[in-house]
Amino acid sequence: MDLLVVGDANPDVLLSGAPAVPAYGQAETLVEQGVLALGGSAAIVAHGAARLGLEVGLAAMVGRDAAGDFVLDVLKSAGVDISACVRHESLPTALTVCLNQDGGDRAILTAPGCLAAFGPEHVPAVAARHVHAASYFLQPRLAAGLPEVFRAVREQGASTSLDTNDDPSGAWSVPADLLARCTFVLPNQAEAVALSGSADPLPALAASGTLPVVKAGRDGCVALAGDELISARPPVVEPVDTVGAGDSFDAGFLAGWLREGDLRAALALGAAAGALSTRGAGGVATQPTLAEATALARDVEITSSPIA
Ligand SMILES: Nc1ncnc2c1ncn2[C@@H]1O[C@H](COP(=O)(O)OP(=O)(O)O)[C@@H](O)[C@H]1O
Ligand SMILES: [Mg+2]
Repeated sequence: MDLLVVGDANPDVLLSGAPAVPAYGQAETLVEQGVLALGGSAAIVAHGAARLGLEVGLAAMVGRDAAGDFVLDVLKSAGVDISACVRHESLPTALTVCLNQDGGDRAILTAPGCLAAFGPEHVPAVAARHVHAASYFLQPRLAAGLPEVFRAVREQGASTSLDTNDDPSGAWSVPADLLARCTFVLPNQAEAVALSGSADPLPALAASGTLPVVKAGRDGCVALAGDELISARPPVVEPVDTVGAGDSFDAGFLAGWLREGDLRAALALGAAAGALSTRGAGGVATQPTLAEATALARDVEITSSPIA
């Protein structure tokens, strides 16, 4: 297969128009909209990659419950190979509630369920051209084994990437030997600063031996390749909801990289796929096809400059 994605999968319950602080005391508060969507960074990446035409599999853990059925049904219908998804017999599927605010900010409440039981032994040794891991800090057992998983993947000649996403504990501890085994690391701006411990995260991350691509919301992204800073800015879009935009970016970036083997093309397709995913509620509903993403990628502005 082209891509094996490893990590989290759960339903997202997305509420928009909720008050910043919900009223307690058994008060029932009506909100504008509620949507049930496929969530989990890894699941959204896998779904987006399938939409973009990659042959993609997901290794993840869900419970033997209705939430797990929902996750696997959506992935399967999208063409994702779920044969490496395992079910925990007693712990529930993870579940996320997103409270979306009008300006685009959101609060994310996650019950991790069985995520903590997912480990490196659940990652199949499949022949994939690329292995991407997501939500590092939500899966401590997987995290502990990931350096060895990525070592083996790289030894077989495949490439690797990591999107840690947020660290709810605030510790942001990632071993240097893991970063060194990531062909790409794909954080957003705040995550890049926290991961590197530096206000200038690109050189700090690159010093670990990885190629950093830092996502920057409506500004697109910036990568550091050798001593060249390359940025990709998508056309202005009026987002409906940016849930999963970073994950759809990852899917576009990896599809561009695996198809073209060219960093600029990958950044442009990533920025386009991220921007297009914001057209609708939830992470997967408006993920683009390859034709849609390629068309918008032509309007992504690529600039480069030597690092100062
Ligand atoms: N308001 C926006 N307008 C256009 N594109 C956006 C917008 N927000 C996000 N994107 C796209 O989604 C990508 C990831 O966004 P970002 O919010 O930085 O990541 P994350 O979701 O991981 O926090 C960006 O690189 C960009 O391509
Ligand atoms: Mg993200």
